Amino acid sequence: MRVHVADHPLITHKLSVLRDKKTPSPVFRQLTEELVTLLAYEATRNVRVEEVEIETPVTRTLGLNIAHPRPLVVPILRAGLGMLEGMTKLLPTAEVGFLGMARNEVTFEPTTYAERLPDDLSDRQCFVLDPMLATGGSLGAAIDFLFRRGAQDVTAICILGAPEGVAAIEKQVGDRDVTLVLGALDERLNEKGYIVPGLGDAGDRLYGTV
Ligand code: PRP
Ligand code: URA
Repeated sequence: MRVHVADHPLITHKLSVLRDKKTPSPVFRQLTEELVTLLAYEATRNVRVEEVEIETPVTRTLGLNIAHPRPLVVPILRAGLGMLEGMTKLLPTAEVGFLGMARNEVTFEPTTYAERLPDDLSDRQCFVLDPMLATGGSLGAAIDFLFRRGAQDVTAICILGAPEGVAAIEKQVGDRDVTLVLGALDERLNEKGYIVPGLGDAGDRLYGTV
């Protein structure tokens, strides 16, 4: 498994505002979108492309197009939905599938309450969007789901990750082709399974009342 932790002052700046408990939902949503677009640049580094002939006003030349089958972007509801716009800005031709997951706040076990994905993901590159990688239960279940459907490789974009979650995913995926792209790798989880220092409950902060 490859893990890429962002190292860019613009990302750290936006993350600092996002973490601030005084940041209201509209600003939180806007920053989440911007952060995803910046992280998507790194996450799509190995997106499959194919050569195309193009004609500029001056001459014919070769360029690159996103290859078929198109990549699949999978936001994990609810909080991952706040990342979708930022991702499709960079990858407008991607197909979008949905997974709805909620973790039990006592056992931290995820349950899947919604699934809208193509039945066959053979040869598909998948990009999972979930802002928080805490215990890794939710992301681990999503990755398993996609590989069971035949996905070729999975790249997950998370705004924040905890070392515990990264270790859990690493153990789970073995030698399957998985990449994690994180805005930051935080210190640890607390006893409630929240990322420390973190940003709180991402879903509530995205969609809670201002
Ligand atoms: C949050 C978050 C992740 C999950 C992370 O979702 O968006 O999906 O928890 O925790 P884990 O790594 O321990 O599984 P939550 O279940 O709170 O649902 P929500 O997006 O509807 O708020
Ligand atoms: N889910 C969140 O929204 N925040 C955390 O810190 C952990 C799980």
